[in-house]
Amino acid sequence: MDNTVLYNLTYGLYVVGAMDGERPVGCIINTCFQVTSENPILAISLNKNNYTLEAIKRSKRFSLSIIAEDSDELIIPTFGFQTSKTANKYEDFGFTMLDGTPIVNGKFAGRLVLEVIQMIDNETHEVVLARLVNTMKGTGTPMTYAYYHKVVKGHAPKNAPTYRKEEDPTVKKYVCDVCGYVFAGDIPDDFVCPVCKRDRTHFHLME
Ligand SMILES: Cc1cc2nc3c(=O)[nH]c(=O)nc-3n(C[C@H](O)[C@H](O)[C@H](O)COP(=O)(O)O)c2cc1C
Repeated sequence: MDNTVLYNLTYGLYVVGAMDGERPVGCIINTCFQVTSENPILAISLNKNNYTLEAIKRSKRFSLSIIAEDSDELIIPTFGFQTSKTANKYEDFGFTMLDGTPIVNGKFAGRLVLEVIQMIDNETHEVVLARLVNTMKGTGTPMTYAYYHKVVKGHAPKNAPTYRKEEDPTVKKYVCDVCGYVFAGDIPDDFVCPVCKRDRTHFHLME
């Protein structure tokens, strides 16, 4: 079976936001689709290691911010490559509460608020089915996963369902030993990690 055919599936990119008690948490997902049309139900897939899933299990609601091509370029590294267990991902952006869920401030193509209906166990991930309870219009062109790969030259970390071990064998990759952020290409000596602000000495060539 040739699993590379899966690369032809298309996706958007989203920030999931949820409250962990009094604290906002969240992560990046590409796995979101609309399941029903009337009184819409949506589905998202979350890795069991992601702290955001634990918070959603408790709070039973979450927001989705639809990432646009002109959303802040640090949104994906900040929300997608470190865990809310230890990081306050909203610190540099700020957030606003919408129906009991945090939405990260900034430019997005729209916002959705959802209430959990059920969770379906799928080995490494859980699929969360949720009812749409509110929406907010945004601006810009929604970012597709293909755009993220081709234009932003980003990749998916281990916890993403679409993780690819071998993204581009010709490009050298350096991983930050503090936060896991990956830099692809020739890394400058004065490079500073955009997520945790550590210097070049924390970056190691990936195998
Ligand atoms: C482009 C991209 C797509 C991702 N897609 C998913 C996804 O669909 N589901 C998922 O569980 N994690 C996905 N992730 C990984 C999570 O965002 C990541 O593991 C995050 O650090 C989890 O944070 P948390 O522990 O605060 O929940 C993706 C990350 C990136 C960068």
